[in-house]
Parts: sequence; structure tokens; C-alpha cells
Amino acid sequence: MKNILVTGGAGYVGACLVPMLLQRGYRVRVLDSLMYGGKALLPCFASDDFEFIKGDVRKIEDVRTALQDMDAIIHLAAIVGFPACKKNPQLAEEINHQATVLLEGLRHDRPLIFASTGSNYGALVGEVCNEESPLNPLTIYGSTKTAAEQYLLKRGNVVVYRYATAYGVSFRLRLDLLINDFVYQAVKNRNLIIYESSFKRTFINVRDIAESLVFALEKFSTLRDQVYNVGSNEQNFSKEDIAKMIQKKVDYYLHFAEIGKDEDQRNYEVSYEKINRTGYSTRIGIEAGIDELIRAMAVVQVVNEFSNV
Ligand SMILES: NC(=O)c1ccc[n+]([C@@H]2O[C@H](COP(=O)([O-])OP(=O)(O)OC[C@H]3O[C@@H](n4cnc5c(N)ncnc54)[C@H](O)[C@@H]3O)[C@@H](O)[C@H]2O)c1
Repeated sequence: MKNILVTGGAGYVGACLVPMLLQRGYRVRVLDSLMYGGKALLPCFASDDFEFIKGDVRKIEDVRTALQDMDAIIHLAAIVGFPACKKNPQLAEEINHQATVLLEGLRHDRPLIFASTGSNYGALVGEVCNEESPLNPLTIYGSTKTAAEQYLLKRGNVVVYRYATAYGVSFRLRLDLLINDFVYQAVKNRNLIIYESSFKRTFINVRDIAESLVFALEKFSTLRDQVYNVGSNEQNFSKEDIAKMIQKKVDYYLHFAEIGKDEDQRNYEVSYEKINRTGYSTRIGIEAGIDELIRAMAVVQVVNEFSNV
């Protein structure tokens, strides 16, 4: 597998993955509608092995063109996270679910790797989830991703990865992710108010996500037609744990108050034994991830559109 189509390759994950694929000798074509602009991919245009198509995964002609001469597909294009999906549920259904069905119909049995999410489990309070745990998505994001992954699994020749919550620096930096947001607020606002502080979540560095996708290409025949939780058994933490880890590195005011409720009521631990048994494990620890974010926040002028400060 040499020629790889990455849908949604201009996003947070894609901006780490695409340069990594080029560096490892793959030829990469990205199909992306540039919802958040395309700056993240600028360095890739220096490579003869990179091709970009501005297009929409919902449009049959764009998908057909993008698939020509490709050996495998990494499907990232989506409306990501419950706030973005809630803002436009119809768009989320069209892109996350229906466009995946369209892509499936046109791919003619090419291997496909699907970036799904631990949101699909919903609230499994106090449990350690594995891939057999029941799916009970509580948000439009979770339900559209669940529908897409179930459709793909029925068709086969697919690897489905259910990711932990990403963190870390990427050319397209996202500030809606829990650790990224906490570090942003600590560094830029010098204060952070946390609700549901004991809720446990599970985390993965965005570059480890990119590594896991390359791993799936390399080990596709071993991994195929299975679901894997992708993250680290060492990175299950509560919100309070994360805030206090940041406090050891940044002097800021931390306050706990029940001023809100997370719609995605995830409060769970996840087991990553299945993916670890295949030979994949994450490389970047949470402390290093917090450090990289602190360094980035100090030099990058990031505007948080939701901040009132
Ligand atoms: N970041 C995380 O924490 C995380 C965790 C689990 C799973 N995932 C999954 O990984 C994938 C990538 O996430 P991300 O964090 O890079 O998101 P992102 O929002 O940064 O990137 C998504 C990309 O998809 C593109 N896109 C959206 N609609 C499109 C359309 N109709 N046609 C073509 N392109 C379109 C956007 O322009 C964007 O570049 C998603 O499928 C997401 O569900 C992410």
C-alpha cells in the first residue's frame, strides 16, 4: 500500500499524520473541504508525493476523483466533538454518517481505516470499557460516529479505531479538547474553573494518533475487521488530576464549582490491552504533552473565541 487517500487531512490529526506519511515514503492525497483553512498542510506542498483536492466527502464526484489510483483510505473527515455537532446536527449526520456510507460504496474493497471515538460508549460510570462494552452514545457526535463504524464493520476490509481524547500540539491547534483547553486557560487566563472534577477521561497525544494510523497501514492484514480502543492504560485521569498536573508547571488559580454539566457524560476508564497485544503502544506521556502545550501557548497568539477575557 503506497498511495493513501486521507479524507479530512487538513484537520488537527491530519496535520500530524500527512507529514508523517510523506516522511515514511507514502504518496498522499488529501481530500478536504478546508473548513478550518489549509495552512496546516502548507509544508507538504514541497513534496512531489503530496496532492491536495479541495472537495467535499458528501459529493460523489469529489470522492470518485479522490479515490482514483489510491491503494488505501484513512477516513478522518468529520464534524468533530459534541458542541460542533450540536450546532449543526444535520451537517454532522451528513458528514459523519452518510458520507461514510457513500465512501464505502465507492471504495471497491480498498482497505479503510476509520477514526472513531470513545464517545460511542457514552456514560459507563465506574467501569473499565473494552471493545465488547455496550455502545450507548449520548451525543450526536457519538451516535453519528457509531452509525458509521457499524456500517463499515458490516462491509469489512476495515480497521476501526476508537480513540481516547486527543491533546497536544498540531499545525491546526484545537482548543476545544480538554487538556488543550485547560492549558490554554491556565497559561493565558491564569485561572480555571472546573465542574464534574472527579469525572475520569482517557487521553492520547495527537502524534500517537498519527502513529497508530501508520501502524494500521503497516499491519492492516493482522488488524482488519476489528475494533480497537486506541490510547494508553497509563493515561486514564480525572479532570482534577489534569488540572493539578498543569498547576505543578504553571502558576494559576484553580477553582472547583458545579457551574456546568458535560453533555457527553463520559466518566470512564478504558482498557487498551487489545491494541497493545498487536504491538502498538503510545510513546508520549501526558507530562510531556502538557509541557509541549505550555511552550506553544507561550509563543503562539491563540484567540479563544469562547473566552470573555
Ligand atoms: N481529536 C480527537 O480527540 C479525536 C478523538 C477521537 C476521534 N477523532 C476523529 O479523528 C478524525 C479527525 O479529527 P480532528 O481532531 O483532526 O478533527 P478536525 O475538525 O480538526 O478535522 C476534520 C477535518 O475534516 C474536514 N472536513 C469536514 N467536513 C468535510 C467534508 N464534508 N468534506 C471534506 N472534508 C471535511 C475539515 O475541513 C477538517 O480539516 C475525526 O473523524 C474525529 O472524529 C478525533
